[in-house]
Amino acid sequence: MSASAAFFDAVEARRTSYALTNKSTLSDSELQALVERAVKHAPSSFNSQSARVVIITGQKHRELWDTVFAGLKNTLGGNEQQENYYKEKFENSYKTGYGTILFYEDQAVVNTFITKFPTLAQAFPVFSQNSAGMLQYIVWTALAKEGLGASLQHYGAITPEIETAVTAGLGVPTTWKSTAMMPFGVPSAGPGEKTFQPLEERVKTIFSA
Ligand SMILES: Cc1cc2nc3c(=O)[nH]c(=O)nc-3n(C[C@H](O)[C@H](O)[C@H](O)COP(=O)(O)O)c2cc1C
Repeated sequence: MSASAAFFDAVEARRTSYALTNKSTLSDSELQALVERAVKHAPSSFNSQSARVVIITGQKHRELWDTVFAGLKNTLGGNEQQENYYKEKFENSYKTGYGTILFYEDQAVVNTFITKFPTLAQAFPVFSQNSAGMLQYIVWTALAKEGLGASLQHYGAITPEIETAVTAGLGVPTTWKSTAMMPFGVPSAGPGEKTFQPLEERVKTIFSA
């Protein structure tokens, strides 16, 4: 196990961090290099490399969360209690961070593979989501190793209007489909408690010679 010890130290160090400051341990160019390294090496089905990423920081990052909140508010039907709940989350968890990494899957690429391999038509969107998760995980874990807290958010997927508003603001192609948004920054508090279910209920072994 010792060969993988450093890897698992990183795996265990990654947690969901909501309490973020607007500071970063990395310079912007180091941050870009980290994300590019992850994008380059994350696996994808047929090596299709359908992942796309946008990194935003500072004022643009704060504006993004204002846009998402405005879109979310439209879905709450004037429910003030819900609005206040989300407002608190947005103002104190996401917007306070240094930046946001937005993950996309380019549907133009996914559709090319669907056309090329029609028997796998139903599988490619699943492959695409799996691949997106792998990339998100690499970035999240690498950020944690750099002392940066992050969380994984999916407000872009709640309504097409939110996704459109965010996409328009960033000028990304309409074929880029949002898979997640990751607000990040130096954490101002440790992560919450995490409980674990018994592994014997989750892992089955069939060791055979
Ligand atoms: C696929 C996936 C989707 C998630 N979506 C959200 C989300 O929309 N909002 C959120 O606050 N956390 C989200 N999380 C974070 C989980 O709640 C968190 O990973 C889990 O509670 C375990 O805690 P940990 O990240 O500290 O290990 C998501 C995590 C995964 C893997």
